[in-house]
Amino acid sequence: MITINEKERTFHLHNDRVSYLLYVMDSGQLGHLYFGKPLQPEGSYLHMVEKSHRPMTTYITEGDLYTSYEHLRQEYPCYGTSDYRYPALEVRGNDGSTLCKLEYQRYELLQGKKTLEGLPATYVEDDSEAETLEIYLRDPLRKLTVVMSYTIFRDCSAIARSVRFANEGEESLFLNRAMSLSVDFPDADYESVQLSGAWARERSVKVRTLELGLTAVSSMRGHSSHQHNPFLALKRKHTTEHSGDAYGFSLVYSGNFLAQAEVDNYQVLRVMLGINPFGFCWKLEPGSTFTTPEAVMVYSDEGLNGMSRQFHTLYRSRLARGYWRERERPVLINNWEATEFDYVEEDLIRFAQKARECGIELFVLDDGWFGSRNNDRSGLGDWKANPAKLPNGIEGLSRRIEELGMKFGLWFEPEMVNRDSDLFRAHPDYILQTPGRSVSHGRNQFVLDFSRPEVVDEIYRQLHTLLTHARISYIKWDMNRSISECYSTVWPTDQQGEIFHRHILGVYDLHERLLQAFPTLLIESCSSGGGRFDPGMLYYAPQGWLSDNSDAAERLKIQYGTSLVYPVSSMGAHVSACPNSQVGRHTPLETRGNVAMTGAFGYELDLNRLSPEEIETVKQQVAFYKQNRQLLARGDFYRLLSPFEGNFAAWETAEPDGSRALVTVTRLLSEVNGPYRRLPLRGLIPDRRYHIRSRYLSYDAYGDELMQFGLMLEDQSSGQMIDGSGDTCQDFRSLIYEVVGR
Ligand code: GLA
Repeated sequence: MITINEKERTFHLHNDRVSYLLYVMDSGQLGHLYFGKPLQPEGSYLHMVEKSHRPMTTYITEGDLYTSYEHLRQEYPCYGTSDYRYPALEVRGNDGSTLCKLEYQRYELLQGKKTLEGLPATYVEDDSEAETLEIYLRDPLRKLTVVMSYTIFRDCSAIARSVRFANEGEESLFLNRAMSLSVDFPDADYESVQLSGAWARERSVKVRTLELGLTAVSSMRGHSSHQHNPFLALKRKHTTEHSGDAYGFSLVYSGNFLAQAEVDNYQVLRVMLGINPFGFCWKLEPGSTFTTPEAVMVYSDEGLNGMSRQFHTLYRSRLARGYWRERERPVLINNWEATEFDYVEEDLIRFAQKARECGIELFVLDDGWFGSRNNDRSGLGDWKANPAKLPNGIEGLSRRIEELGMKFGLWFEPEMVNRDSDLFRAHPDYILQTPGRSVSHGRNQFVLDFSRPEVVDEIYRQLHTLLTHARISYIKWDMNRSISECYSTVWPTDQQGEIFHRHILGVYDLHERLLQAFPTLLIESCSSGGGRFDPGMLYYAPQGWLSDNSDAAERLKIQYGTSLVYPVSSMGAHVSACPNSQVGRHTPLETRGNVAMTGAFGYELDLNRLSPEEIETVKQQVAFYKQNRQLLARGDFYRLLSPFEGNFAAWETAEPDGSRALVTVTRLLSEVNGPYRRLPLRGLIPDRRYHIRSRYLSYDAYGDELMQFGLMLEDQSSGQMIDGSGDTCQDFRSLIYEVVGR
């Protein structure tokens, strides 16, 4: 998978889906040649380097009027030696200079992939799954070694990158900017695709045409954020969901990030991804190393859908890990939207009993069970049951839930503390705060300083005690505010630029320690809904709560957008009560179920308040999900109709061998006397006969017909039916079609 031309000093990473080519320039710096559809492995490619004389240019060597970094495509650019675009690296020495010159030293090839210590990353289970190229660069003046690491996977078009810095000198260096990835594309004729939004409307798909200058998304909130996801894609103008070039760049990180596309005045495009340089400064002491988070780049010539399927496979099977990776996820019920803080043990038992009757497998107790927590002004930090609500403690409650035949799960917000808590009273210095300044709150809470190991230890101790004594199979790990006044009172002044990153390393460390101690624990990540839904969390928590907005119509967009990068198995999705608590909307129970089933499925309402007919529907939904959850979680996912573009949302999950598929079609508003509709499917076998079944429909067709002419939708609009407006004419109506190979 990695071909090296020693004479030309080119490195070619390739498999049958992708090629990535780089080379060593005469000056010793690393140059970029190509990224995209596979090229001949053995070819000679140096002629791809484009350079010519241009006025008003700074050249590297006297007498040479051709060679300027400004006009060369590079692999890991630095600023200050003739390139005026944004650099990937900025290192400051004690002399105050930020110039850096990275010269090629050597390379190493290894089978498989190394782990990144303390950081989440993709991995292999068998060394034959991937090959890794490490290129050693060095700035002789600074005695700084930079190791560029590239891993190409055998079975997908993904390349994982990270960069390691080693200070081999005698003086400290300061990394002001250390991106995980930089790629220079030869032209800029692309649109960028980003996943952006806000609380309760996370990860909407936004497309922008690249223009001269910068296009960027970022976070400076201390978490990846509701606002922007650590992801950027490029597509050609004519790329569709299913055809054309698409490139995806995704950062395996949960803190401040920057994803940027810069178009220069010669139409060269530079894409960068990594820790947000704003506010970042890492002191690299003599003898120490620093490793960037991993960035994953994917190429597909099968449009955005093709790109997504590559991410899904890699992230589902080689980023998510551990006990729950392949296992069927339990159908859960969560009490939050039904009760908020207001409950006692007996209410919860009644709640769980009804859920058990419906076939639900896991009961999750949300916020409000600990310390003095009756509202959001107190209790965070005191992870001990409130005896007024739970006289038998979590131990007693979890035992009773297990006796009902269900598993028990519990909510925590480990990184936070309220002023009104025993933890804060004992350790007011444990929070992130800047001396002499006021501290802003979010939801009346403050952020614990996880850059301090003793703070992480204290929370670990509390959680470990509970998990040891009670029967807790699952935890919902919440994080309900962004970081402000970021400063740690225990770190020296010249290391304050490390705190955001060190905090996230502390979060990862706590996850890791809990998983080591309780390997069968299922963690669901959450951050006021989807404020930290990123690949970094996926390494520890194979599922995450997508959004506090549980309205089915809104969820169509949120799930559709999220699926650009993240697999269905990672998307926590629940059926909630109507009118919906966030948007006040009524949607049919069937629709709520159909939408949530394309996710880690559950309920978030009091089933005791439903009618007997509705309970019947819930039972059927749970049974249907259980029958199909393997396919839904692990099948190939195809987006068919975008809720961002029209009145319909449709997606399909097909067995990779094409033997079966489920198609979910939801119409937002009812139509009047509308057209006949057909929906071309994907991933079927052209000459195989399939049986199609949905609520009223049943027919047989070959795969080619279903993919060309399309699935006949039974969803008639009002006016099309003799009896006027049957239930097919409602707003927000959804159907699942089963397509089963004969
Ligand atoms: C956040 C979560 C919710 C719920 C509440 C509890 O908002 O996203 O699901 O857990 O906190 O306070």
